[in-house]
Amino acid sequence: MICVGSRTRFLVVKAASKLNNMLYLKNEDIMSEKRVIKIMILFYSRFGNTAKMAEEIAYGAKEISGISVAMRRIADDVPMEVVSQNPAWSKVVEDLNDRYPTTPIENLVNELPQYAAIIFGSPTRFGNMAAPMKALWDGTSSLWVNGSLVGKVGAVFTSAASVHGGQESTAISMMFPMLHHGMIIVGVPYSVPELTESGSPYGPSRIVGMLANKEIEEADIKVARALGRRVAEIAGKLV
Ligand SMILES: Cc1cc2nc3c(=O)[nH]c(=O)nc-3n(C[C@H](O)[C@H](O)[C@H](O)COP(=O)(O)O)c2cc1C
Repeated sequence: MICVGSRTRFLVVKAASKLNNMLYLKNEDIMSEKRVIKIMILFYSRFGNTAKMAEEIAYGAKEISGISVAMRRIADDVPMEVVSQNPAWSKVVEDLNDRYPTTPIENLVNELPQYAAIIFGSPTRFGNMAAPMKALWDGTSSLWVNGSLVGKVGAVFTSAASVHGGQESTAISMMFPMLHHGMIIVGVPYSVPELTESGSPYGPSRIVGMLANKEIEEADIKVARALGRRVAEIAGKLV
């Protein structure tokens, strides 16, 4: 048995504790450097207005460090033969296809569980989410059975032609399936000053006019970015 004095014991313990701290800190640093929170922004957009909001939300989310954002677009239910009869519409769709190629619903469903947070966007259709977004949800039974989305952070956004065109009911319509899946829904708090000019506590929304060609406004952008940041921050705390 080796006997050491109390001074030596003290120094050994101190050195061991220092080493332990160094190792611990090092591990933690490595973890925080490598930890990436994955967010998917999943939207449907016929004329590009909801897509523009998705971009602003992504911009806000990326302001938070350690966040990666995947943009995913659901295909339209109108065939290209119909779209191509209207040159202006064709141009919009071609531009959307270039920037955001569509992903089949089946692939999206398989991909969803990889993300810590999912932000859903749909134009308002008679005060409700659009059919392609509903079709996505109707394809998620396997995820529901396995609880694959339980505890994931979720949020919603929408656009509509008119001032009170059903933005809030559309936002809430998208929350119903999210709640059934056990997602944790994040909205926009009134601490975001622009919320009195654009969007609602249920999520960002914008007014696009009857021709769906109104420019996005500064307040719309601020609220959209605020949601992106908030989802990113909350997902970072929960993961
Ligand atoms: C079938 C249909 C129903 C619509 N219902 C509404 C509505 O209830 N309220 C409203 O303000 N706009 C309504 N709109 C307008 C869309 O919300 C608007 O064109 C959309 O927000 C544009 O977004 P996008 O460019 O991403 O497609 C409707 C459009 C379509 C085609």
